[in-house]
Amino acid sequence: MVKERVIRENWGTRVGFILAAIGSAVGLGNIWRFPAVAYENGGGAFLVPYLVALVTAGIPLLIMEFTIGRRFKGSAPVAMRRLNKNAEFIGWWQVAISIVISVYYAVIIAWAAMYTIYSIGQTWGDAPDSFLFVDFLGAVNTDGTNVGTFEFGEWLPNLLLVLIAVWLVTLFVIGAGIRKGIENSAKIFIPLLVVMFGVLVVQALTLDGATAGLDAFFTPDWEALKDSGVWVAAYGQIFFSLSVGFGIMVTYASYLKRKSDITTSAFTVGFANSSFEVLAGFGVFSALGFMALQAGTPIDEQVTDGVGLAFVAFPTIVNTLPYAAGLFGVLFFASLTIAGFTSLISIIQVPVAAVEDRFGINRLKGTIFVGGGIALVSIILFPATNGLWLLDTADGFINRYGITVAALVSIVSVVWIAWKWGELRTDANRTSTYKVGFVWLACLGVITPVILGWMLVDNIRTTIENEAGVDRATLIYGWCVAGGALAFGILMALILRRKDVPELVDEAEVEGEATLTGGKEEIQ
Ligand code: ALA
Repeated sequence: MVKERVIRENWGTRVGFILAAIGSAVGLGNIWRFPAVAYENGGGAFLVPYLVALVTAGIPLLIMEFTIGRRFKGSAPVAMRRLNKNAEFIGWWQVAISIVISVYYAVIIAWAAMYTIYSIGQTWGDAPDSFLFVDFLGAVNTDGTNVGTFEFGEWLPNLLLVLIAVWLVTLFVIGAGIRKGIENSAKIFIPLLVVMFGVLVVQALTLDGATAGLDAFFTPDWEALKDSGVWVAAYGQIFFSLSVGFGIMVTYASYLKRKSDITTSAFTVGFANSSFEVLAGFGVFSALGFMALQAGTPIDEQVTDGVGLAFVAFPTIVNTLPYAAGLFGVLFFASLTIAGFTSLISIIQVPVAAVEDRFGINRLKGTIFVGGGIALVSIILFPATNGLWLLDTADGFINRYGITVAALVSIVSVVWIAWKWGELRTDANRTSTYKVGFVWLACLGVITPVILGWMLVDNIRTTIENEAGVDRATLIYGWCVAGGALAFGILMALILRRKDVPELVDEAEVEGEATLTGGKEEIQ
């Protein structure tokens, strides 16, 4: 039987690929999640487990994902199937995780986009807290009770419109393709983000109280290092932040030419992402120091979770700034919007590319039917008064029982069960200046799985401990989201077990540009 032949695009330049991968990594997780997680887990001392997690798990896994993507030339399910026929479910599981994340991630970008406009006239007024939860999101009733997680039916029209716009722009970029869409947008947005966020940090550092804020952030609580929860938080942060474990980096690397460097790119992306994260820590804590000084309260009372930090603490800071208040707000929320946007593109590329590669359909159809379908779910479910609570539960469960568990299963399957580490190491080293060896294998094959296994146990324990405070329906919904992603993976793999992957050919190979090193035997 003659196989369908599908020509796949390649990145135009190495810089383009690295910028796109950085664009994926630097996202909401860097600006709003990292500072709060770091502060709650020992302040300056958190940087120790964080850097250990980066070097022992983040970068080794990034190297594995880059190598799998480039070697097996396909989005996550296709690459995993080519690696081993029984591993296809892992790819589809990661596709499902990406779908879950994308539907709520886009909503947070829409909030940030609206807050960028609100910053100009400080629309949130004197009470940003009640503005956010009561007026803007409608998630809390005027009597202070929360809207029920499953109280559907009340949409927020303005948010709905902005969310539609976020999806249209995202799908436009995806539809424009790897080079014209994703690469070009990364080339524009990443430098823009760095400049905007840089200006914001400089402005934050000049505020009264900034030093006290930085002291609070960087003064280490060494005792915290004895707490295993701090290590779990550090590893969790690295996985989400580096976009590893949900198929993104495999998909992005599948568009690399065969002669591209792997390890230097992985180090560049890993360290660029963490540098941005620490920069965000500087900016956010300087601003919080200022806020604490104005309010006359201790700094730890200013630090809350991601939502509160970005959408309550920052508007409060903007309200009290001595100069250029609107600019400060615009810079912060526009940075959040852009960082989130370049990440959303990469998250949505995972399911779109998976369906394109596996079923041999073209980009336009993939974008409209897969991307459009996912956008529709996001648009119907989330810009409503119960949206915040749906989002919160989905986020918690997919992080705890999606990304990290899928990462654990993929590492154990690739390294131990399929025994592919040697093949991957040879392939990565073939074109990389910096070679990997025993240390990489020890980190990837031993340290990371042990820690991920421990994380899983710890997360289950925490969920059970907190069970009393969560209503049953929410708990069932959370488990359905996490379990449903795995079930989807298994189901898709079973359905497609007998269906061959179309012949996917690199554009560069068709043009005879790439150095072919045994491409065809990988195509089953
Ligand atoms: N890596 C992306 C973030 O940090 C998903 O938000």
